[in-house]
Amino acid sequence: MIIAIDGPSGAGKSTVSKAVARRLGFSCLDTGAMYRSIAWQALQDGVSLEDGEALGRIADMHEIGFSHEPGDPLPRRVSISGVDVTDAIRTAEIDRSVSAVAAAPAVRQALVAQQQRIGRAGNYVVEGRDIGTAVFPEAELKVFLTASAAERAHRRVAQNERRGVGSTDYAEVLADIERRDAIDSSRDTSPLKPAPDAVQMDSTGRTIEQVIERICALAQE
Ligand code: CDP
Repeated sequence: MIIAIDGPSGAGKSTVSKAVARRLGFSCLDTGAMYRSIAWQALQDGVSLEDGEALGRIADMHEIGFSHEPGDPLPRRVSISGVDVTDAIRTAEIDRSVSAVAAAPAVRQALVAQQQRIGRAGNYVVEGRDIGTAVFPEAELKVFLTASAAERAHRRVAQNERRGVGSTDYAEVLADIERRDAIDSSRDTSPLKPAPDAVQMDSTGRTIEQVIERICALAQE
């Protein structure tokens, strides 16, 4: 079974996906971490973020891996070609670069194929922007999670403070979220938009716990 959780930056997808996966005994896949890893590799290799073909070659050449901390059933660590990038993909520089990388059709083609291979291997909660529309249009449950930009920025600042990585400046985080929303929603390939059969949930003013409960209830119907 696949549960697709899509939505814009900071809507709470990561927290919700992990909690739902834990409760249902599913694994989870963070597809944003894959686009972030390609952005990291591109910066590392000095590849222009406007060169879609070169970015596509990076996505074809490098294997992205997810691994578990001892005793934790959910994958937490991300690597690209064996290099651990778990923290390195959460910096403000990657925040600024990733949407350009994700707009390259060749990158999307390579990563969608990887995501489909991973997800088809078991029961997965898959989070991203295009999971219900392009990666797993056959998913049994699709959720489109949103919240106001201000609330999303507040949550992201709190998350960055907890993680000790990324910007903790509210104005900078809000500007990044609004800029990425615009790029993600207007790109030609699989723009961010709800699948016609997605359940839309606005988490503004609701607790994450309420959202988790609702998704688990829908999954068990
Ligand atoms: O953590 P946050 O919600 O801010 O973003 P993310 O899920 O880590 O995704 C980072 C970026 O990757 C997004 O802004 C999109 O540009 C891109 N992305 C995408 O295009 N398609 C996906 N399925 C997942 C992420």
